[in-house]
Amino acid sequence: YEIYLNGMTGAVPRLPTDLTRLAEVAEHRLPPGPVGYVAGSAGDGSTSRANRAALARRRIVPRMLRDVAERDLSTEVLGRSLPAPLALAPVGVLKIMHPDAESAAARAAAARGVPYILSSASSTPMEQVAREMGDGERWFQLYWGKDREVTRSFLARAKAAGFSVLVVTLDTQLLAWRPRDLDQAYLPFLHGVGTANYFSDPAFQAGLDKPVHEDLKAAVLHFLGLFGDAGHTWPDLAFLREHWDGPIVLKGVLHPDDARLAADAGMDGVVVSNHGGRQVAGSVAAADALPRVAEAVGDRLTVLFDSGVRTGDDVFKALALGARAVLLGRPYVYGLGLDGQAGVEHVIRCLLAEFDLTLALSGHARPGTVSAADLVEDPV
Ligand code: FNR
Repeated sequence: YEIYLNGMTGAVPRLPTDLTRLAEVAEHRLPPGPVGYVAGSAGDGSTSRANRAALARRRIVPRMLRDVAERDLSTEVLGRSLPAPLALAPVGVLKIMHPDAESAAARAAAARGVPYILSSASSTPMEQVAREMGDGERWFQLYWGKDREVTRSFLARAKAAGFSVLVVTLDTQLLAWRPRDLDQAYLPFLHGVGTANYFSDPAFQAGLDKPVHEDLKAAVLHFLGLFGDAGHTWPDLAFLREHWDGPIVLKGVLHPDDARLAADAGMDGVVVSNHGGRQVAGSVAAADALPRVAEAVGDRLTVLFDSGVRTGDDVFKALALGARAVLLGRPYVYGLGLDGQAGVEHVIRCLLAEFDLTLALSGHARPGTVSAADLVEDPV
């Protein structure tokens, strides 16, 4: 009711409360290169559209008279108690959106008790983000590149800085064909954004002939050269397992057999995700892959979900399709670009308020009771 009460003095929210509208507002107000990078997708955008369509096709069947007067959104994920089944997805290069970049997003997450997943490709070094978060729950996302020493160093730094869960992104060994960025010849990394963890890393610096500040171009090229490794295979995960003693979650898993391989490799969870449609054009929609993965490994692994989550009912549907919690991507990035930390908090609060209402109005007092029985699938 806070928004309605504020309205009694004439105040209305600065950003839309329908979070599906943020993209359109961002397109109007933010510069074309950066907003194109965030909004853009692989190929003709069909995977991004499919992500939304797969969620839209599922419809909730609300149940009545179930006493939902007292509700509790808290959820246990990977041994942690979270206030809601939500975390902020790892999104790199946030300085293209706002000068406060990852720091603002991380502070917003900490203020709301939501885990913040810091990207390897952040524009702010992980130690600084950790300081800004105090004891806020933080996870570290690894781009698993070619240089083992850099990987080892990142894991040690992340551990020392209090990041508790390691999220290893598997779907970005190479950067996909992204026409919006290609047409504008715009890649944030070439503008020196997204390299902060690398440039500040002793193992990375050891691979350079000259210090970063003396030859920035050589440093950027070195970064691009080691950023992804398309040669990795499942047995290589043993290296990460050996160097990280907390939970490890593999992000970008879409096939049930890959989820089984993740469990066999001693992983703790998977994120069913197609990177928001930014990697494989023509890929299966994340929400269509989710129930199959959950069925295959739901009893062995923590199954998380992202790609297409925009609203409270999307969160509900993801839980019904088998996810334990969801990661929020582009909406909080637009919130950041449009209004800094306050914009990210607006997005988190709207999403959770809408989820709380969806839950209650559908007949649930807790996320844990939501199941496949709450959904029907619309004919296409
Ligand atoms: C991403 N994503 C991403 N994922 C990751 O593991 N590391 C990263 O550095 C990034 N960077 C990144 C930048 C931008 C601009 C976007 C939009 C996305 C993917 C992200 O974690 C998540 O999977 C998607 O954003 C989910 O899709 P939606 O909900 O944004 O459509």
